Amino acid sequence: MTQRSFTALHCPRARRAQTEAVMKRYEALAFSFAAQIRAGEIPTGSRLPSLRQITSQHGASQSTGARAYYLLEQWGLIKARDRSGFYVAPAVSSTEILPSPQTVPESSNADPFSLVFAVLESVQQPGTVPLGSAFPSPQLFPLPRLAKSLCYAARTQSPWSTVSDLPSGNAHLRQQIALRYVAMGMPQATEEILITSGALEALNLCLSAVTRPGDFVAVESPSFYGCIHAVERMGLKAIEIPVDCREGIDLIALEAALNIYDIRACWAMTNFQNPTGVTLTVQKKKALVELLTRYQVPLIEDDVYGELHFGHHYPLPAKAFDTQGLVMHCSSFSKTLAPGYRIGWVSAGRFAEKIKRLKLMTTSSSAVPAQAGIADYLSHGGYDKHLRKLRVALERQLRQMESALTRWFPEGSSWIRVEGGYFLWIELPVGVDAFELHTRAIANGISVAPGAMFSSTRSFRTNVRLNFGHPWTVNLEEAMPALGRILGGPT
Ligand SMILES: Cc1ncc(COP(=O)(O)O)c(C=O)c1O
Repeated sequence: MTQRSFTALHCPRARRAQTEAVMKRYEALAFSFAAQIRAGEIPTGSRLPSLRQITSQHGASQSTGARAYYLLEQWGLIKARDRSGFYVAPAVSSTEILPSPQTVPESSNADPFSLVFAVLESVQQPGTVPLGSAFPSPQLFPLPRLAKSLCYAARTQSPWSTVSDLPSGNAHLRQQIALRYVAMGMPQATEEILITSGALEALNLCLSAVTRPGDFVAVESPSFYGCIHAVERMGLKAIEIPVDCREGIDLIALEAALNIYDIRACWAMTNFQNPTGVTLTVQKKKALVELLTRYQVPLIEDDVYGELHFGHHYPLPAKAFDTQGLVMHCSSFSKTLAPGYRIGWVSAGRFAEKIKRLKLMTTSSSAVPAQAGIADYLSHGGYDKHLRKLRVALERQLRQMESALTRWFPEGSSWIRVEGGYFLWIELPVGVDAFELHTRAIANGISVAPGAMFSSTRSFRTNVRLNFGHPWTVNLEEAMPALGRILGGPT
């Protein structure tokens, strides 16, 4: 058995693959020129920079520049003049120049939807090693203590609360959540906090509140499959914005897309993004809010993993920098306390009233006893102590998984050390297909989450997401070398 030493690496290949599969470098460059032309910043008849200038001004190769100009020419925005360069063409209507919003899917062994269901189902099989799961182990949650609160709440709740809590949710729970926002240093109005059935309902309601079928929505790539499904189900058009494993969402590409498309919402995870685990810096969160505010585009902020930080403090979400009520901050107790209770919320800013009505029209209310039970648990003050223990356990499990990866995965595998949450986004060696790994792993009783689950264009085929949210058991200890063997790693 040979011991391999790996370091957690930046994953340049992953970035390249994402950019190519979603918005390629030349497309981003073309978008940015197109935006300036449409805004009149580069007037009709002006000469565009030479290909050599593109290299010095934009850090792109001449061939990238040439492809960008070719695309702009296809959109009718510029014209080449023999031996003289490229010039801005007379104005055309905006619909003529709109490039296709999604890259054409490459051939794949499975579409992302059935893949998601297959992976979720595989995790439910008894005895399966749940590396593909979306949840941490229930053993890490204080379920007996929570059950006490649930019983107490059910025994003591006023019979009127079953109707008085509709549709915004249990007042006590909303106050408790508001107090947590205060403790984080970002007070939120209790009237703007609405209780939902998990974060997923909050996110879906937010999306419905600000879009109509046919609208463009900016989404991350890779992104949480719940986002891809919601966009698809509501008949929206996704504009996929690349996410870098180290730096997060590409704001240049986002701005270019905002210039080109009439984007009605942006759905993004700013803390411990699923699947990459990346957290935006404070500066980047501010820049994201400033950019969207400039375009008056609402941000649907999915922050279900924020509480699972390994550092001392909750990394403030983008909502903390929102001055216009344009950010809808969504979270839940599903990943931190009570997965099956299905209790989440949104601090909805200026959209609170609209979301309240949508909630009333769809599910009326989330289960009242579960809300009251969680409110009782929170008010007794044990939540922070539980979270501290949970974070320590997750960080320990991360170290265990990293050491197993280092030992058993083949050379060429890489990942970025995450600062919270419970996912590692692994870049597999060149030529390895994560879907095939998934198929062969299932046959061995191990579930993994192949990268294609996190893209509507079936990209990220050499990536796999592994869950380290489960205590390190013998099963896990044996699963890692088994995965390594499938991948041709050291024996
Ligand atoms: C990024 C992300 N957002 C939202 C959700 C849904 O959260 P909930 O279970 O609270 O509905 C999940 C669950 O997997 C998730 O990973």
